[in-house]
Amino acid sequence: MFGKFSRRHFAKLAGASALGVATAPAHAAAPATAGQPASFPQGFVWGTATSSYQIEGAVNEDGRGRSIWDTFSHTPGKIEDGTTGDRANEHYHRYKEDIGLIKQIGAKAYRFSIAWPRVFPDGTGAPNPKGLDFYDRLVDELLKNGIEPFATLYHWDLPQALEDRRGGWRSSETSKAFADYAGHMAARLTDRVKSIFTINEAGRFVTFGYGLGIDAPGLKLPDADVNQVRHHVALAHGLAVQAIRARGRAGTKVGPAENLATCVPAFDTPEHVRAAEIATRELNSGFLGVILEGKYTDGFLQYAGSNAPKFTAEELKIISSPNDFVGLNIYAPQFYIAASDKPPGWKMLPFPASFPHMSSDWLRVGPETIYWAPRLAAKVWNIENIYISENGTSSEDKVSADGQIYDLDRIMYLRNYLRQLQRATSEGVPVRGYFLWSLMDNFEWIYGYEKRFGIFHVDFATQRRTPKLSVDFYRDVVARNAIGV
Ligand code: NOJ
Repeated sequence: MFGKFSRRHFAKLAGASALGVATAPAHAAAPATAGQPASFPQGFVWGTATSSYQIEGAVNEDGRGRSIWDTFSHTPGKIEDGTTGDRANEHYHRYKEDIGLIKQIGAKAYRFSIAWPRVFPDGTGAPNPKGLDFYDRLVDELLKNGIEPFATLYHWDLPQALEDRRGGWRSSETSKAFADYAGHMAARLTDRVKSIFTINEAGRFVTFGYGLGIDAPGLKLPDADVNQVRHHVALAHGLAVQAIRARGRAGTKVGPAENLATCVPAFDTPEHVRAAEIATRELNSGFLGVILEGKYTDGFLQYAGSNAPKFTAEELKIISSPNDFVGLNIYAPQFYIAASDKPPGWKMLPFPASFPHMSSDWLRVGPETIYWAPRLAAKVWNIENIYISENGTSSEDKVSADGQIYDLDRIMYLRNYLRQLQRATSEGVPVRGYFLWSLMDNFEWIYGYEKRFGIFHVDFATQRRTPKLSVDFYRDVVARNAIGV
């Protein structure tokens, strides 16, 4: 019976009815009442984000050392489209042009990362003056353009030398080396950089890099070792906080940028919300929890059993050195949580196969995640200042015949997520700013250049940057500090 209708035919009919061509009464299309723009708090920080290996290129220039991502991306079969970050966006040379893009958006903040092997080619020892100069120039250019720099110290590009010499994050020597590097950067930059993110997404690179072998350095270690690696990363964070306080200007703000395991209550009833709070605490105990509480939860330790990390009381003290803010990278709902009669009092619900996602399979669409994740985190750990250190989506956007890039799915995603973020701030959840990932298309790790997360399109053959339609969308949000009309 349906054979008569082709898919195209169906889409045409559906489109026609959306245009009001079908039989619906004319008045049905009119909005009931005009809405109000939903404002964000005064002084809310609007920004975009990138990271060093994903955009800089120039991997062999001016004395930069190798990173584990250079090695990994050059290993055949590791990157889906066979590419590397060797050239990437050539940002090392085009940074002025790229800062011009930020200006076009009107955003007043920019989160970038510093490539550790560019400033310490060997991981430790003598710094590389030319590497340091680059970040000086970048920061100065940002400030000249009225854009506040937010620097991330570790966005996964560990010096290969440390992997070779010390087994990378398998050794707490790497945690100490990170603290030295952090202190050095703080001394150098905090006359101009007021906010520093220590470590980006331990939740991903520890598991994917050291457990599953999917990210650099591509290891598949047993659970006990992975837990130890995570502990060393947490220790690195704590030591870095201390080093930044010791060597940076007074008043420098510091915190992690973590992709916490996002829990969303199955639906909004007090018992499911409570269950999601408990789940948030338990599922994040291995990194964010231990940083914010100074201990691993009993649940975490019981679950890990004999694979639990080995640690001292002194280490826990260092790890939990107070932060000024917590950065949360929020993309997708990871767990829908329901209350349960059985211990531990909550359960994860299975996702149906039909759950919608964006062009990256893992990127499920759940706008409410950006409402619940900061709300639950603030409640569980008493956090006073939160940044959404990343949020955004890939899209299969192509340049149309008219030269435009109509990334309507990205706009749909951002509009819905920002609505929910506004809901959070209007209820007093302490979110102080938002960094859209990403300023421009770039090297999306194991996907190479196939997944485009930018609001500026990049033609990687010519290095031409072109604004997508979402630039107009975001510029409007930034200018009005509000969403909706
Ligand atoms: C989080 C990571 O920090 C970033 O490097 C990556 O590109 C985005 N997620 C998108 O996957």
